[in-house]
Amino acid sequence: MKRLGVLTSGGDAPGMNAAIRAVVRKCIYHDVEIYGIKNGYQGLIEGNIEKMDVGSVGDIIQRGGTMLYSARCEEFKTEAGQLKGIEQLKKFGIEGLIVIGGDGSFQGAQKLTEKGYPCIGVPGTIDNDIPGTDFTIGFDTALNTIIEAIDKIRDTATSHERTYIIEVMGRNAGDLALWAGLADGAESILIPEKQDDFNEVITRLKRGHERGKKHSIIILAEGVGSGFEYGDRIHEATNLETRVTVLGHIQRGGSPTANDRVLASRLGAKAVDLLLEGKAGRMVGIQKNKLVDHDIIEMLALSHSIDEDMYQLSKELSI
Ligand code: F6P
Repeated sequence: MKRLGVLTSGGDAPGMNAAIRAVVRKCIYHDVEIYGIKNGYQGLIEGNIEKMDVGSVGDIIQRGGTMLYSARCEEFKTEAGQLKGIEQLKKFGIEGLIVIGGDGSFQGAQKLTEKGYPCIGVPGTIDNDIPGTDFTIGFDTALNTIIEAIDKIRDTATSHERTYIIEVMGRNAGDLALWAGLADGAESILIPEKQDDFNEVITRLKRGHERGKKHSIIILAEGVGSGFEYGDRIHEATNLETRVTVLGHIQRGGSPTANDRVLASRLGAKAVDLLLEGKAGRMVGIQKNKLVDHDIIEMLALSHSIDEDMYQLSKELSI
């Protein structure tokens, strides 16, 4: 292959820029031309495509967001949209495409793969919900953003002896909530993968309060439901002074952590290697700190699961 393309799609994630940089530099290192597609699949359909060079990706490794911009594109979910995309790729002479994104973006890559167009998926989402990789690009940064925010909330929670419900992102996955809860010693962690026992949450809160605990932190994954509704239920059941914080899109921004930059660099470069080896229809990932690749269609058929040992540990440590 002599000319490749790269796009970012879906919700942005810190570290996407580091992945783009790795793709571009790795291509140039191998004397392969690389084209950036702006605004995800929307830009692909519209032919918003530009050649990139070494300088295009200078000074971006430390930046959050994505310099190629991103979009959620309804039209690309249709066959007509997918065919328009392939037509544009052919028009620009692009022989293989690297898609950096989450679940929805991988579905787009899967469609292109099924139509015989060579594609590689690079997992970039704060949700950490893609099977076949232990970590996705952006998860570590979002997690650290959450921890920083909870540490601050803890200060005011203690001063006012309040119970806080903190709603975090993750779509249908509970990884951000679970890891944040464990890292911050939350009283309870509520995730969509597990049915919570409301009575147990209440017992735990009351026990802490009776022991003289000055504050309580409950982390609720957005996939479970509304933090505000949960806060009302907690207040009604305990009469404790309760506040709710929805962290929202702050979790998606900011400079990527060193871990995310390294992960993104490794995964982006690996995606180029695969296409140059003649492989396609794959996703790259990291498992036990080793780079791996899997059939993208097979992986999308699997569902994401949480680490059961970590969940159990979080229960044991928050007695
Ligand atoms: O997939 C990343 C994510 O931030 C989810 O955690 C969240 O549910 C969703 O995107 C929010 O999407 P949007 O930015 O389109 O509101």
